[in-house]
Amino acid sequence: MSTYQSLQKTLSASPRTWLVTGVAGFIGSNLLETLLKLDQRVVGLDNFSTGHPHNLDQVQQLVTPTQWGRFQMIRGDICGLDICRQACAGVDYVLHQAALGSVPRSIEDPILTNSSNITGFLHMLVAARDAGVKAFVYAASSSTYGDHPGLPKVEDQIGGPLSPYAVTKYVNELYGDVFARCYGFTTIGLRYFNIFGQRQDPDGAYAAVIPKWIASMIKHEPVYINGDGETSRDFCYIDNTVQANLLAAVSTDPAARNQVYNVAVGERTSLNQLFESLRAELAPRFPYLTDYKPVYRDFRAGDVLHSLADISKAKNLLHYQPTHTIREGLKVAMDWYVQDLTQHR
Ligand SMILES: NC(=O)c1ccc[n+]([C@@H]2O[C@H](COP(=O)([O-])OP(=O)(O)OC[C@H]3O[C@@H](n4cnc5c(N)ncnc54)[C@H](O)[C@@H]3O)[C@@H](O)[C@H]2O)c1
Repeated sequence: MSTYQSLQKTLSASPRTWLVTGVAGFIGSNLLETLLKLDQRVVGLDNFSTGHPHNLDQVQQLVTPTQWGRFQMIRGDICGLDICRQACAGVDYVLHQAALGSVPRSIEDPILTNSSNITGFLHMLVAARDAGVKAFVYAASSSTYGDHPGLPKVEDQIGGPLSPYAVTKYVNELYGDVFARCYGFTTIGLRYFNIFGQRQDPDGAYAAVIPKWIASMIKHEPVYINGDGETSRDFCYIDNTVQANLLAAVSTDPAARNQVYNVAVGERTSLNQLFESLRAELAPRFPYLTDYKPVYRDFRAGDVLHSLADISKAKNLLHYQPTHTIREGLKVAMDWYVQDLTQHR
């Protein structure tokens, strides 16, 4: 039995109280689903700026009424300290996901990104520390590697940030570290690489590449590749990410606490390869995709060229074992997207 499987057994036998910020978003709603299925008590905090009530409705459909009854939703903004304090009261673990994602959004409006991602983050840290939370696990980002050329990316070798978003995520790590040093407060940063899966938003100017391309293909719209398509990413299925969060929160190994970890699969996929995989997966259902070709355009400011994680630190210290490769994750996510995009919109 893997460490994660035995953790799931332990949690089911002795429920804890979790705060998931950004709970109406992609990653937050998947954390909520897993925690409720494990019979945990969950408080959710979200201002619905990029998250959606329909994500919560979907989770409600996937759990029992008793499990759903263990969920308490607070609508509010982490830029207000009082609401953060209210949300942290009586909580064992915080899984902090609320932030404004997207590199281009941060280039267009750095002040807005800064307020949620840095001021809001600091409020959450202070509120969680004062509430005596056991561990504060937060969404860091692979963007922190910035212009460092090394591959694969190893946690202690980072470069200069390439966007305001990357600055905010690096500042999160600095604050996390300082709260551990100054207040003895346990913080663990998870540097997510490109996470994908069910409930990731395919709409809007700042949508992530996988849902955006799936939606474009299904709607018979052009698929744009920024650059020559040889840009590569370490795409990570959502279940792996959920696993890393739970393992990080409950770890009692002193060496594993107050650390930052890569959360990925350790597999590199170019955008051209990704396009081909999505096309091949969807073509049997949408025959017009058989000879679909992408449209190439300029590289986007702020994007890193290549991203590939060394995940040995998370494997060694958290006993993280990704359960899904990109191919396996895409299969699951694809069914969800086809259903969501063809039936509910
Ligand atoms: N998805 C990825 O590939 C990826 C990669 C690296 C890091 N991350 C980080 O993971 C976290 C979750 O990302 P996601 O992909 O689920 O994005 P998402 O946009 O789906 O979820 C973010 C959630 O946070 C909420 N939120 C934003 N600002 C808030 C505020 N001020 N107060 C309260 N709620 C607020 C949004 O309404 C949304 O529900 C973010 O911190 C993001 O930066 C994601």
